[in-house]
Amino acid sequence: MTRKTLFADPPTRPLIGASILSADFARLGCEAQAVLEAGADFLHLDVMDGHFVPNLTMGPDVCRSLRAALPEAFIDVHLMVTAPQTFVEQFADAGADHLTFHIEVVPAPAELVEIIHQAGMTAGLAMNPDTDVARIAANLEPADLVLVMSVQPGFAGQAFLPGVLEHIRTIRPMLRDDQRLEIDGGVNGRTAGACREAGGDALVAASAIFGCEDYDQAVAALRGTASVLPRRN
Ligand code: DX5
Ligand code: ZN
Repeated sequence: MTRKTLFADPPTRPLIGASILSADFARLGCEAQAVLEAGADFLHLDVMDGHFVPNLTMGPDVCRSLRAALPEAFIDVHLMVTAPQTFVEQFADAGADHLTFHIEVVPAPAELVEIIHQAGMTAGLAMNPDTDVARIAANLEPADLVLVMSVQPGFAGQAFLPGVLEHIRTIRPMLRDDQRLEIDGGVNGRTAGACREAGGDALVAASAIFGCEDYDQAVAALRGTASVLPRRN
């Protein structure tokens, strides 16, 4: 099965992912198209089950609709659920390109990575801010991406936890050229620089993009090529 390869090659500039969690859901297709046209490299879908995190968001059908509306978009799905293995086939069928699961709830991560690969997607290991980096280090080999949470997962719009920069610095030298390091939570024009300097090469943002009047400027600020804009309202 062919896989899209956005995460396979070292990017020449930081990849920016737009988390649609802060989009206007009534206009989701237009919002997703607008952030991609503004320069975001991929869409990030936050899937929450009300168990692993205290929130409910979206499922495979949202992914399917976005895939139909935006055939070329790279869709990165972040599963914040207690049973991620349950959803691999559903998201593959719905057109996801990449699936990240949380290492805290998966006893055999390599096996799940293999299942995700077999389903035609790349695979990521996510860790919460207070998870031991050693868990990631021990399971890194087959993964295409590591996601370091820089807030407690569950909600957009939280403040960046600077302590996770140490996780990023620790993980960075462990990675091969074909493995990405994604940072997610509280990333904005003020915190993105520290993420990039610590070694993050894929930055995800929800409120810093969708809360900004000008999506082009918001994406550029995350990449470090524009200054920070005032927030909407
Ligand atoms: C949080 C999600 C994040 C969130 C980021 O649990 O995984 O992707 O949408 O939102 P901001 O960028 O607003 O912190
Ligand atoms: Zn996320």
